[in-house]
Order: sequence, then structure tokens, then C-alpha cells
Amino acid sequence: MTFSTPESRLIVALDVADRAAAERLVRATEGVVGVYKVGLEFAIAGGLSFAKELVDAGHDVFLDMKLLDIANTVAGGVRSAGLIGAKFLTVHAYPQAIRAAVSARPAGLNIVAVTVLTSLDDADLVETGYAMTAAALVEKRIGQAAALGADCIVCAPTEATVAKRTGLTVITPGIRMPDDAAGDQKRVATPQDAIRAGADAIVVGRPINAASDPRAAAERYCAAIAEGLAGRDGL
Ligand code: C5P
Repeated sequence: MTFSTPESRLIVALDVADRAAAERLVRATEGVVGVYKVGLEFAIAGGLSFAKELVDAGHDVFLDMKLLDIANTVAGGVRSAGLIGAKFLTVHAYPQAIRAAVSARPAGLNIVAVTVLTSLDDADLVETGYAMTAAALVEKRIGQAAALGADCIVCAPTEATVAKRTGLTVITPGIRMPDDAAGDQKRVATPQDAIRAGADAIVVGRPINAASDPRAAAERYCAAIAEGLAGRDGL
């Protein structure tokens, strides 16, 4: 996967309630954002047909559906994402789900394995029933996703260095500038640190989609990506 410019490495989450808000956000940020991500909130509110229109208009689209279901259903979801023309589709990094997604993957669609949500810390994993730290579980899932043929990995910026060793494309959410609110994210880092740690692309939601000037916010993130690129060697 080629990321030729800082802008091409910026994935903006269209976490909005309706089409009008999504249209405003796309219009405001066109040219300074590489990929638009449609997740649960907007998908359930008509975002999937909007995603198709974005593709038809020449944009790269990331469908953040975080698929996790029986193999047959995951495979069907992957085929449908292919019909939309999405470039990226997320699947929770459970081996059975990744296997199903990879086996149904159409040309041009990258299967993105989500390791452990960046809103989860060790205590949350204990509550969920895992007897592992977030770092250990992420490392295990990174290895499995790579072995099973996923194309990209989503992990926290703090785990990007380990993910990068697999040779897969590394995408990190949980990105914040020092003066941004963390919100519910628990494993956060700046764009500069994420890129220096090996992230190929970053996902940014609220700091851009809830900004009073989303274009200015996106430009600030692109500048930070460029700074991170200037400070990393050999990645
Ligand atoms: O607003 P914020 O920048 O926290 O948004 C991050 C986006 O990345 C959200 O759309 C969220 O669903 C997504 N995401 C995440 N952590 C993951 C995978 C996806 O925050 N592990």
C-alpha cells in the first residue's frame, strides 16, 4: 500500500448522525484527508449508501464494521463491502473471523484486523474475562492476523512498533494532540509519536469531526504526520 503524502495517511472518522453532517464534513475537509471512515453510528443512519457515493466520487472509503460473526456471515459481509467498493473493512481479530474474511476478500478490498479496542485497558479485559494484559493480547492477535493473511492491523499507537514487524499496514486510532480531550480513549498518543512508532496511517475522529473548523484541524494533523515522518528512520 502506498502512502505518498501526509494527507494520504489521514483517515477521518465520519462519526456523525446523518448524511447532512457527513456531507458538510467531507466538503470541509476534501483534499486534506486521504480516507473517509464510516462506522456504526453513521452506517446505521444511511452511511453505507453515502459510502458508495463517496467511492463513486473518487474517494477512498474505510468501512469500520468490526465484523464478528459466524464464518458464513462474515464472508457475506466482506462480499457486500466489495460491492460498495470500499478499500478497507475492519474485522475483529478472532482467528475464525479473519479466516472467513480473507477467504471471501474481493480484489481491491483490504481486510483490517482490529486487535483490542483502544478504549480498553487491562482492567477492562479482566472484566471481559480475559486473563491477559492488553499488550499481551494485542501481540497475540497481531501474530495471528498476519499468519492468517489479513492486510492491515488496527492497534493503539503504543503497539505500532510490534505490529510493524509483521510487514502489514499499521493503522492507529486513539490519536490526540496534547491539547485535545481523550474522551473514552485510554491508549492514546500524538500523531508524531504514532508515526514515529511505525503507524502507516492514523484514524482521527472527534478532534476533527467535532472541531469548530474541521479543515484547520485536519491540516494541523497532516502537519503533525509530516513531522512524525521526518523523525522516523528505516520504517
Ligand atoms: O473520536 P476518536 O478519534 O476517538 O475516534 C476514533 C475512531 O476510531 C472511532 O470511529 C472508533 O470507532 C475507531 N476505532 C477505535 N479503536 C479501535 C478501532 C477503531 O477508536 N481499536
